[in-house]
Amino acid sequence: MNVLVGVSGGVAAYKAAHLVRELGRRGHAVRVVMTEAATRFIGPVTFTGLTGAPPVVDLWDARYAGEVHVELAAWADALVVAPATANLLARAASGVADDALTATILCFDGPRLFAPAMHARMWAQPATRRNAARLAEDGAILVGPVEGALASGEVGLGRMAEPEAIADAVERLLRRDLVGRTVVVSAGGTCEDLDPVRFLGNRSTGRMGYAIAERAAARGARAILVTGPSALATPPGAERVDVRSARDMEAAIGRVRAEADAIVMAAAVADYRPAALATDKIAKSDGPLTLELVRNPDILAGLGAWRAGPRPVLVGFALETRDVLERARAKRAKKRVDLVVANRAADALGTTTNRAIFVDDDGDETLPELDKRALADRILDWIGARLGQLGRPGAGN
Ligand code: CTP
Repeated sequence: MNVLVGVSGGVAAYKAAHLVRELGRRGHAVRVVMTEAATRFIGPVTFTGLTGAPPVVDLWDARYAGEVHVELAAWADALVVAPATANLLARAASGVADDALTATILCFDGPRLFAPAMHARMWAQPATRRNAARLAEDGAILVGPVEGALASGEVGLGRMAEPEAIADAVERLLRRDLVGRTVVVSAGGTCEDLDPVRFLGNRSTGRMGYAIAERAAARGARAILVTGPSALATPPGAERVDVRSARDMEAAIGRVRAEADAIVMAAAVADYRPAALATDKIAKSDGPLTLELVRNPDILAGLGAWRAGPRPVLVGFALETRDVLERARAKRAKKRVDLVVANRAADALGTTTNRAIFVDDDGDETLPELDKRALADRILDWIGARLGQLGRPGAGN
């Protein structure tokens, strides 16, 4: 693969040389683009020696005819900025393109990774956290920083992740292990209409399901995202099917079920819907209003009970406020699901990170706190391993 390494100006820039060498050692073609400040910390010649070509520093360098950022961005399969200083994160987060590195970042639309490195107090600043969160929201992966000795001699959270860890993250980002597989993912909350202007809904944003569809597509799968109303953008490469109610969702999943190698039910499906849909807007009266609700189909349980032909691998979520593990186990057995990803409600709703527990045949495993994209990768790792064990050939079996 072609990996473009961006180096910004911090003491950790010397470690970028190790990263470049490590990526090369793992068989990737590497090119380097540096900020002017980075050249104060490490000589461009070092990178020339390691990659066989001089790093790009100056957009105005006559050798590049002014379009080098376009050419570099088209060449790269992945972009990793290491170290990413506070200033670089700020510029990248707001789309500034005033040097070769930031212009290339803006021109590149593939997988990108930032390895922040700075003094702990700079990392802790709300402005920096905002910039890092914005980049993550826009699709970037952040690796580190980690706790350790800083350039100032103090110890704190601000040290760049080790080059091996960054190279691992780059390779995870480039994995294409799901080529030939079809992964169906449901996402978001369903809306159960009450009258022409009102509905019953829930607080699900859809982020978890969207992250799974995004990573499945990036890893080479055909990703079919069946989504309740959501403001989120369709992940690149995913096929999107918009639905509104639980019954719409059940029908949409039913239409693609036979093609699926795996189905991940990340949607917050309403268990009940209003017994009747009023054709006119329900007007208020003086007394209380009682709504009659009826049960919706349990989509996941329906998939678990499927007997016709080989069953796709089934993944469900369990969002609980108490007795997380017991309830997740019970749900797994009752709905005949292969993997239940259990969350405590307070840890998962409206947040960008998750602390999840995997419950499967082998028992349970508590995962570290991960952002939703990293958790999506763990779920897809689990699915990939299970499909490997089943030895099934590919989509449609
Ligand atoms: N689910 C579903 N159809 C429903 C409700 C839930 O497919 N009508 C799926 C969800 O997408 C999720 C899993 O089932 O993957 C768990 O949902 P949850 O509501 O926690 O499970 P319930 O069995 O409804 O549990 P509870 O008794 O706590 O409501």
